Amino acid sequence: MKLLALTPALMGLVAFAQASTITYTTVTGFFLQDETATDASTFDYTAVNFGLLNRTYPADQKLKHAKELTQWERFYNQVEQLNDESHSDIEYKVLFLGRHGEGWHNAAQTYYGDAAWNCYWAEENGNSTATWMDAELTDNGVDQALVAHNFWQKEIDEQRIHTPDNYFVSPLTRTLQTANYTFTDLKFPKGAAKFSPLIKELFREGISIHTCDHRHPRSYIHDLFPEWPIEKGFSEEDELWNGVTAETSAAQDVRSTTVLDEVFFTSASSKKDSFVSVTSHSGEISSILRVVGHRTFSLNTGAVIPVLVKAERDAKAKATTTSVAWTTSAHCTVPPLTSVTACVCPSSAVPVTTPLVTDV
Ligand SMILES: *[C@@H]1O[C@H](CO)[C@@H](O)[C@H](O)[C@H]1NC(C)=O
Ligand SMILES: *[C@@H]1O[C@H](CO)[C@@H](O)[C@H](O)[C@H]1NC(C)=O
Ligand SMILES: *[C@@H]1O[C@H](CO)[C@@H](O)[C@H](O)[C@H]1NC(C)=O
Repeated sequence: MKLLALTPALMGLVAFAQASTITYTTVTGFFLQDETATDASTFDYTAVNFGLLNRTYPADQKLKHAKELTQWERFYNQVEQLNDESHSDIEYKVLFLGRHGEGWHNAAQTYYGDAAWNCYWAEENGNSTATWMDAELTDNGVDQALVAHNFWQKEIDEQRIHTPDNYFVSPLTRTLQTANYTFTDLKFPKGAAKFSPLIKELFREGISIHTCDHRHPRSYIHDLFPEWPIEKGFSEEDELWNGVTAETSAAQDVRSTTVLDEVFFTSASSKKDSFVSVTSHSGEISSILRVVGHRTFSLNTGAVIPVLVKAERDAKAKATTTSVAWTTSAHCTVPPLTSVTACVCPSSAVPVTTPLVTDV
């Protein structure tokens, strides 16, 4: 397959996006991950009930048998009450943000080191033994997704947790696989929504010149998980990745806002569908956390954190279009000197901004 012709918008390094009329905030006081004292690097969501703090809630008072209910049952009741008692322009949702398990690109970054990875290897589709263009999970990555699977089952059995009302997943292979291993074959509670994740373009990883950010065509994704819905307008070829320009954090945050706007206030029952699963990536989850005003919290591969988000819609405001610049990133055409920490090419090879590979 040939690399797509670059569109003028991309070559001009500018992406256009709709500015949101929804304001997002994180409601703190419910989860360990919201507190500055919690160390993300050692945080194990399976050891601490997804981080849900042990406490009482205002809504407990109206419950007849509060003492017989689990923490997650009472928390769900509290979220329902927040939605019931708020204006129709306010919506609360609990986003279960899950990072994919380890992929071949993660293994390769560790194997080559950050400098050689960023300057050269990440621009290749793989090496002679591994492929990381739209990387698949390693065996370790599959195991991490199965840890999430087992933990969800334990939470269903012991905490009678309300399972997600909606599932969303990034179109990259590692997130599709992770969502599949996590949620397929769970023994769901009675009345639970079916696991049928909607594949959404804008939940993908931050788009760099790395080939791991280059997705497969729609038909490949459909063949991998034929029963899963793919959002309307999803293009056959990846029209965002070009191997030359990369999304900046600012551009990514505009994109994350756009995709959140597609999750909140979607239907009359949107308030009822308050538990939402999003299987995505470290960079994209960081961006979502910035947009919802959450503290910085880096997820380890395979980790999942819930976050309670309040969305407030300004029905009178007009949506405006903003443009956000993308940027070029230089890289080497041969592996850089491995002793350096920055992208320094061997003297024979000047850094370039043209793609290393043009075939998928
Ligand atoms: C809440 O209490 C349970 C049972 O004592 C414990 O397993 C869990 O880790 C506690 N949660 C937090 C966030 O401390
Ligand atoms: C290719 O990269 C993988 C990491 O993704 C590494 O385990 C493997 O040893 C590399 N192969 C060669 C031939 O260097
Ligand atoms: C999806 O998950 C099921 C259950 O773990 C597994 O048997 C199947 O191989 C997975 N499919 C893909 C395409 O990874």
